[in-house]
Amino acid sequence: MFTRDNALALDSQDVLAQFRSQFFISDPQQCYLDGNSLGRLPLKTVDVINEFLTQGWGTKVVDGWSEWIDMAETVGDLIGRAALGAAPGQVLAQDTTSVNFYRACRAAISARPGRKVIISDTANFPTDRYILEGIAQELGLTLILIENEITDATVGTQTECVTPEILAPYLNDNVALVTLSVVAYRSGALHDVQAITTLAREHGALCVWDASHAVGVTDLQFDRDGVDIAVGCTYKYGNSGPGAPAWLYVSKAIQQSLDAPIHGWFAQRDQFAMGQGFSQTDGMRGFQIASPSIIGLLSIDTSFSIIEQAGIQAINAKANRGTDMMCELFDQWLAPLGYSLMTPREAHLRGGHLTLWHPDAALIARGLRLEKNVIPDYREPHGIRVSMSPLTNTFAEVFDGFERIRDYTVSGDYKFLSVHESKVT
Ligand SMILES: Cc1ncc(COP(=O)(O)O)c(C=O)c1O
Repeated sequence: MFTRDNALALDSQDVLAQFRSQFFISDPQQCYLDGNSLGRLPLKTVDVINEFLTQGWGTKVVDGWSEWIDMAETVGDLIGRAALGAAPGQVLAQDTTSVNFYRACRAAISARPGRKVIISDTANFPTDRYILEGIAQELGLTLILIENEITDATVGTQTECVTPEILAPYLNDNVALVTLSVVAYRSGALHDVQAITTLAREHGALCVWDASHAVGVTDLQFDRDGVDIAVGCTYKYGNSGPGAPAWLYVSKAIQQSLDAPIHGWFAQRDQFAMGQGFSQTDGMRGFQIASPSIIGLLSIDTSFSIIEQAGIQAINAKANRGTDMMCELFDQWLAPLGYSLMTPREAHLRGGHLTLWHPDAALIARGLRLEKNVIPDYREPHGIRVSMSPLTNTFAEVFDGFERIRDYTVSGDYKFLSVHESKVT
């Protein structure tokens, strides 16, 4: 039996415990289990942005650009160092994940001329699948989505994950691109980045990874694992704020061989010569389109400096212990109430969140917010996602959240709620 005292004991040994006080927490009674969707605000970000407004933009006005002009690269290097296992000169902080994903996939496909097939999976994040559909239409390619979405009939018997064994039969010399999420957004399953990248490469294909659900919680080691191209966001475990710039990683090994699909002026060899004709400059700058959001980059700078200080291995270790605890509480309390677990039980096979499957998940998730001060999120058709965000959650907070989920489910009070009215789940 896992008790609240056990959770408190974990908190007392937590080497990251001091970091919670660096974040804005408006309601200490709330169990915020949604850092996998939007991370909390670091207190320092408030000061840094305010100071930028008055001392930076306000005071320096256009002269400030001489300091800000390279920030997509310097902040990109910080993201790489703190969270991606990437040496300098391989990460750019810019635009949204979706835009970076489009660019990454377009560039990868162009680097494999004559090949006609793109491979992904049906459980991949919607924006990735929609963008791939568009690229396939645009270029007359075939998009193969490996069927692995969990349905009521398969819950408990499979995971939304593509293993090298599942992928292998789809690979041949007509495949240009394989693209998957490092951590699957719904199931929380962690893909074998190194094995899949290597397998795709053996068939001459490039792999593009979407690490949105992994960055800032999983111990990513892109350089070590031979990753070629990856994208991800900064607003989940990265705590950089809603809509903060995303990032693009291109390994040094292939930078020279990739063409930027969008020829913006920031990628031009001699940007301020303002000359005729595009010539892509070397390195990551060659993939930058345009003026970066300096406010967004400053926010990333603050929050990824906290990640760097805490150490991604320590963050990952706490996430593993927290998700282990959630698995124990699931078995103890939620399995007997008709919940199923969509997420792998072995810590090395998952990211920082679990997905709890229940026939009434939509109403329960809504009621938890409205009536129980627990913030999970909900994913169609029957998934309640709950996470351990190592820099901001305590073990006791996650424990209390699970206790409230149990009691609320037992009460049946959610049955009296009307159907979901919010635009966002
Ligand atoms: C895996 C994944 N990819 C892409 C996105 C889309 O990000 P953006 O809105 O920054 O393009 C998300 C958003 O949550 C995501 O989880």
